[in-house]
Amino acid sequence: MSQIRSIKGTHDILPGDSNRWQRLEQVVHQVCRQFGYREIRTPMFEKTRLFARSVGEETDIVSKEMYSWEDRDGSSLTLRPELTASVVRSYIQHNLRGQAPAQRLYYLGPLFRRERPQKGRQRQFHQFGVEAFGSENPEQDTEIIALAWHILSECGLSVNATLHLNSIGSSDCRSAYKEALKDFIRPNLKQFSETSQRRFETNTLRILDTKAEHEKKLLEGVPLVSDYFTDDDKIHFDSVQHFLNAMDIPFALNPKLVRGLDYYSRTVFEFTSPVLGAQDALLGGGRYDELVETLGGKPTPAIGFAAGMERFLIALESIEKTESDPKPDIYFICLEEDGLPAALSLCQQLRRAGKNLVMDSLRRSLKAQLREANKSGAGHALILGREEIESNSIVIKDLEKGHQVTVLQSSLIEKL
Ligand code: HAM
Repeated sequence: MSQIRSIKGTHDILPGDSNRWQRLEQVVHQVCRQFGYREIRTPMFEKTRLFARSVGEETDIVSKEMYSWEDRDGSSLTLRPELTASVVRSYIQHNLRGQAPAQRLYYLGPLFRRERPQKGRQRQFHQFGVEAFGSENPEQDTEIIALAWHILSECGLSVNATLHLNSIGSSDCRSAYKEALKDFIRPNLKQFSETSQRRFETNTLRILDTKAEHEKKLLEGVPLVSDYFTDDDKIHFDSVQHFLNAMDIPFALNPKLVRGLDYYSRTVFEFTSPVLGAQDALLGGGRYDELVETLGGKPTPAIGFAAGMERFLIALESIEKTESDPKPDIYFICLEEDGLPAALSLCQQLRRAGKNLVMDSLRRSLKAQLREANKSGAGHALILGREEIESNSIVIKDLEKGHQVTVLQSSLIEKL
């Protein structure tokens, strides 16, 4: 029979690897709590409309990467391709604004995008991210960036990471800028790729994001969005930079950074790592001051970011090699079937007393079980054989030093 394999672009996280995942997750939980963020968990699928309206119909994500299907009642549903839209939906639906004028939320979980799989790019991948609602002030922007910086530092990744920073201005300035950009590109439009030509009408700003060298040349001397900033846009962006300097967080201004989702306004940023190759963005985010209103809520400024966890782990691989599996304290060996109730009861007591314990369940010979005990890295083996069962005792074998003692079962915990 032919073997069934996992779907292209999806990956199993095997026991040898899950330690590294758990460690990263712990850092995320710990740092987010330290910054006053609380975890939110939203469903894995939503109405397709939610993503079309927030991420934008013309973005790559919505136009070609979503896993969508028609449900039995005819409604169109989609596996979430990102989490900001879901969090905003939930924020509005549960009136989280009413609970606190400033809401700080974080999340971790899987996402789905039908992209071409390659290193650092999967079809099911994982993000952690944060979203802060309620403040339009630049110190909120730098709090979010500092949180990202803190997690990178905790992981040892901040040394090599670069923070790219830009502001794409508020919507007032962006429409004027889009026209100026179109006027600049129009005379050479035919020389741009098919994708860029399509974006010219639908998503002009994204053309700035091109990776093609010939297009970068064509864009030399392009007008910058900063030339179109309103006074408030300028003050906001200047303050963000000023505060980052005050916090000793280095950044590189990148006037061509625009991000691939439609909801952004003003501050946008990405952290990249050179060890990631072509897909070098560890995390990305920005302000989205109009999204809550677009999705039917009261106007509420907001900002957030999300990080690719697989990419974090790839970057981490370059600085630390695999972490070993946790070792049990005790390896429990029961040699007789009629001793099992007593053995299982002792295991329960030991676990309740806080011991990490593995009990052999293959009913192998003493020799084989001891070999396994040594392999597990446990400090002690407990052996329950015929003699011990008869006398309510048990053997404690120190696996490091090799010596052993027999003690009464009733004093086992005390002896250990
Ligand atoms: P995004 O830039 O689409 O933004 O994704 C954020 C991060 O997720 C990327 O920088 C990358 O590390 C990771 N990522 C994206 N696609 C893939 C993939 N196919 N495979 C592996 N990793 C991937 C957002 O998702 C926004 N919701 C971020 C945000 C939050 N903005 C404001 N709040």
